Amino acid sequence: MAQEVRGVIAPGKDEAVRIETIVVPDPGPGEAVVRVQACGVCHTDLHYKQGGITDEFPFLLGHEAAGVVEQVGPDVTDVAPGDFVVLNWRAVCGRCRACRRGRPWYCFDTHNARQKMTLADGTELAPALGIGAFAEKTLVAAGQCTKVDPRVSPQVAGLLGCGVMAGIGAAVNTGGVTRGDTVAVIGCGGVGDAAIAGSHLAGAAKIIAVDIDDRKLETARGMGATHTVNSRSTDPVEAIRELTGGFGADVVIEAVGRPETYEQAFYARDLAGTVVLVGVPTPEMKLELPLLDVFGRGGALKSSWYGDCLPSRDFPMLIDLHLQGRLPLDKFVTETIALDEVEKAFERMHHGDVLRSVVVL
Ligand SMILES: NC(=O)c1ccc[n+]([C@@H]2O[C@H](COP(=O)([O-])OP(=O)(O)OC[C@H]3O[C@@H](n4cnc5c(N)ncnc54)[C@H](O)[C@@H]3O)[C@@H](O)[C@H]2O)c1
Ligand SMILES: [Zn+2]
Ligand SMILES: [Zn+2]
Repeated sequence: MAQEVRGVIAPGKDEAVRIETIVVPDPGPGEAVVRVQACGVCHTDLHYKQGGITDEFPFLLGHEAAGVVEQVGPDVTDVAPGDFVVLNWRAVCGRCRACRRGRPWYCFDTHNARQKMTLADGTELAPALGIGAFAEKTLVAAGQCTKVDPRVSPQVAGLLGCGVMAGIGAAVNTGGVTRGDTVAVIGCGGVGDAAIAGSHLAGAAKIIAVDIDDRKLETARGMGATHTVNSRSTDPVEAIRELTGGFGADVVIEAVGRPETYEQAFYARDLAGTVVLVGVPTPEMKLELPLLDVFGRGGALKSSWYGDCLPSRDFPMLIDLHLQGRLPLDKFVTETIALDEVEKAFERMHHGDVLRSVVVL
């Protein structure tokens, strides 16, 4: 029996979001219905609402979520009703060329639920990142459910589902940050701050936070930044070089997604250093760099999809580290809100007032 629940949809380009009745089908083969307990508001949800991702409106928004599995399809064995899970947007296939070569974090054929959730009149919904968790319940592929220790609060656990995992993974998985490294992070929102927390956890010797907003730099200190640079008033490349003996940082993480900040990252790293692009650019953006500098500075220029994470490996481990007091995931939650406050949360995000607003259901 399909169920009717409340959920937040983006009805059309730049239109305000609203609560609607969502019809959630019973899970079919390979699917699960999850009772959502908490879901963070991510910048990508705003991009969906603005029509910046696709134009397949209406969207069921929300994708940074944790909850309890309520029902599973006939052949599902990895999760069972009652399991506390974090939802992920890259359920790996196990069969594509990346998976076969033992690099499932690059999986080129990740999957979602096959059935569609709909509005009461039958209109099919496109769930954000194949999740759609600003809703009391959602239908996902069972592989999108990752079991974690249920002692953690849902509003904290859910953050791993997107931005915080992307940031930690950008530092630790993609950037390979390790003991003694110097790291600079450009853009200290939820993703950049998570890269700072990840670098701190990995033992970086120096962590330089760069942002144009002093409030963000203040929070970055609380995540483990040892130095801060306001790039509105100070040239960040010079400042990072000065703080690293004149050389530049071993790893520079770009968490804004703009050509000018990428260029800063490129020149703020030491010879043979690594740049990680985790910020997401828009289609019209172009990058121009002297090819000789690309060659002459050596090292690695990498992008980080979802922090190159493997949910089954990384989510439970990071929750365990949090429960041991070694990863301050709770500091990312600026406020908890109700389902009908998502539009307001977008405004606060736009003004830079929050790291994360989390809808608690
Ligand atoms: N790669 C992935 O898998 C992945 C996952 C989630 C989010 N993202 C992307 O990461 C980026 C950051 O996301 P977020 O949630 O932290 O966003 P956010 O809006 O919370 O943070 C962005 C930060 O960048 C700062 N900033 C803006 N312009 C700047 C500039 N010119 N120089 C320095 N700092 C500047 C802002 O003050 C803010 O603190 C976005 O592009 C988002 O789409 C990527
Ligand atoms: Zn695959
Ligand atoms: Zn997200």
